[in-house]
Amino acid sequence: MKIPQVESRKITMILARSRLHTFSKVLRELPALDIVKPRFEFQRQAQNVKQSLACNPGDKVVINGWIDKKPRKIGKELIFGEIRDSQGDVIQVVDSQSFLKNAAVEDVVQVQGSLALKKGKKSDEPKTSLELKLESVATLNGADKRAADLQDFKTKGAYPPEYRYLQLRLPKFQQFLQTRYQLSKALRQKFDELGFTEIETPILFKSTPEGAREFLVPTRRTTTDEEPTFYALPQSPQQYKQLLMASGINRYFQVAKCFRDEDLRADRQPEFTQLDLEMAFANGEDVMQSVEEAVTFVWKKLSRGLYTLDIQGNVVPVSESQPVRHMSYRQAMSQYGIDKPDLCAPDLKILDLSEFRALGNSDKSFPIFEVLILRNAFDDKKDFNKKWSFLKNPEHYNYRTPKVVPILNEQDKSQWVDQFLDIAFFENPKLVAKALDLQPGDIICGSTRQDILKLFENPTPLGKLRQLVMKSNAYKDKLIDQDVAVWIKDFPLFSPVEKESSNNFEYPEYEEDRVESSHHPFTMVQIRDYAKLGTNPTQALGQHYDLVVNGVELGGGSTRVHDPQLQEYIFEEILKIKEPHKVFGHLLEAFKMGTPPHAGFAIGFDRMCAMLCGTESIRDVMAFPKSVTGSDLVVGSPSTVKNEALEQYNVFKKK
Ligand code: AMO
Repeated sequence: MKIPQVESRKITMILARSRLHTFSKVLRELPALDIVKPRFEFQRQAQNVKQSLACNPGDKVVINGWIDKKPRKIGKELIFGEIRDSQGDVIQVVDSQSFLKNAAVEDVVQVQGSLALKKGKKSDEPKTSLELKLESVATLNGADKRAADLQDFKTKGAYPPEYRYLQLRLPKFQQFLQTRYQLSKALRQKFDELGFTEIETPILFKSTPEGAREFLVPTRRTTTDEEPTFYALPQSPQQYKQLLMASGINRYFQVAKCFRDEDLRADRQPEFTQLDLEMAFANGEDVMQSVEEAVTFVWKKLSRGLYTLDIQGNVVPVSESQPVRHMSYRQAMSQYGIDKPDLCAPDLKILDLSEFRALGNSDKSFPIFEVLILRNAFDDKKDFNKKWSFLKNPEHYNYRTPKVVPILNEQDKSQWVDQFLDIAFFENPKLVAKALDLQPGDIICGSTRQDILKLFENPTPLGKLRQLVMKSNAYKDKLIDQDVAVWIKDFPLFSPVEKESSNNFEYPEYEEDRVESSHHPFTMVQIRDYAKLGTNPTQALGQHYDLVVNGVELGGGSTRVHDPQLQEYIFEEILKIKEPHKVFGHLLEAFKMGTPPHAGFAIGFDRMCAMLCGTESIRDVMAFPKSVTGSDLVVGSPSTVKNEALEQYNVFKKK
């Protein structure tokens, strides 16, 4: 290979510098060989704790692991210690030769010895009655004092993030990472059986307006006009997988890394994994069927099986005769106030009071008055304040705070209506009071929302309140303790863009004539709403579907537009993307050359794994997650880069 002249000069300089280094003054002594050598020469055949505990008294074993707790000196020469192996299992060791005299917590050791019955235990008792009498201990690497100082965090199971590797040694996290691996194996097995092919797509992609903010990667290349050029990391493999459909691939899947520069939450990371898939000559129904089969399979294999709602509203196991329930966006929004309803409390539904002629009267764009009733929720006023007053805290809500009215006594049974008069008009208050039949101990929460045909505020104030109720300690016992799945479909294809700089703290406001894709710009409209693309796009429903489990959006997908003219129309006329050929030309060109109809889906792999592990945060199931500020505190990223390096990338610091 010929090295360009500039590169070759750089290499000569680097070599010259490294030679200089050899002759410069030594700053640090070479560690002594007799200390280093034993750390590399250890016995490579070893048993783990479980295997050792299955042996018999008198058997000799070798165990690798860590000093779990500070060894305790019991007598002059006698020390008791605990060794933890990679699985997190612990064995008691008895040291009568003071091997562990200077041992520190988290030292990594190889211990050898013979198994013996613990004092007072009989040989027919369970094998946990065995302990290890130490015959030798090799310290393969010491742990400094910080590891011992962090012992309290070990007990709590939550280390400071910079010590993630210590946290990962804990059995719980070892188990999470094991489950993650089992999950990827199970999904690969299932999609293989379903005839899918795993194909990797590039990580260095192109900047395109797909939805979230991207991470850009500067390059050293400039255009002929000296403009710097960038790659973008993929938000998802969406466009490449559609190009794979154009490439004649019939069924594609990938365990794919995705990158999004968005605000972080417990279920959002800037770098995350999707189980991404796409099917040619298929539509949404086919995709939902494959996804449902895979999801049901892994839930059975790795957890306690998936549940759904039957037609009567009962929570029942998903089976061949009982597929996952389908629900429209409008039903989800009107009954649960959110497009990802948690159905572990299926009967906790929001009621629209329009049929009783009770209507919102504080903003004409929010004409619906709706209520959520918590029956038999408190004993007396003090109990109400203790359990439920947090529902009135405005900090929990994006906009207006719902009114929360406890029925304290007989009078309140009819007078509660008065508490809502500043946001609602009641044509016949008595009729409403009679119909709802509230009793002392009940709570009625009320707020307003948009009309169902223009329902874009998501969640609605009562939808958010319902989430808070379901997370509260006071309601925990009423929840169904199963993983309950539902398909949400018939979403609006486009939503009006919400104004960011609005002074209205009560109601969201929207930009005039500006819409954005509810899912992404490649989603097909429902054929019966086709004409609305030309007249009133926000009223058109899309062929998009989400899979929701316990109120978490596990995944989403859609039937795609594969008609180049229609896709161009959507880019230009509806989304007002200037020069769509510059950013999306690759897709438009491919669509013009025989791309088959196709549809696909992406499962949030980390969310799915967290759910299967029974943990709330996806961080728990990622080896090295980012912090809330997007940093990796173990390695210290992101980090600054020297000016000279930046200049090579045509990136200049602000003066
Ligand atoms: P979507 O943007 O809905 O669809 O993403 C699919 C699923 O990925 C998960 N997810 C995330 N998980 C962790 N951290 C994040 N920041 C994050 N963002 C999303 C969610 C979500 O449901 N290309 C389309 C799919 C398709 O149409 O085929 C897509 O990416 O569980």
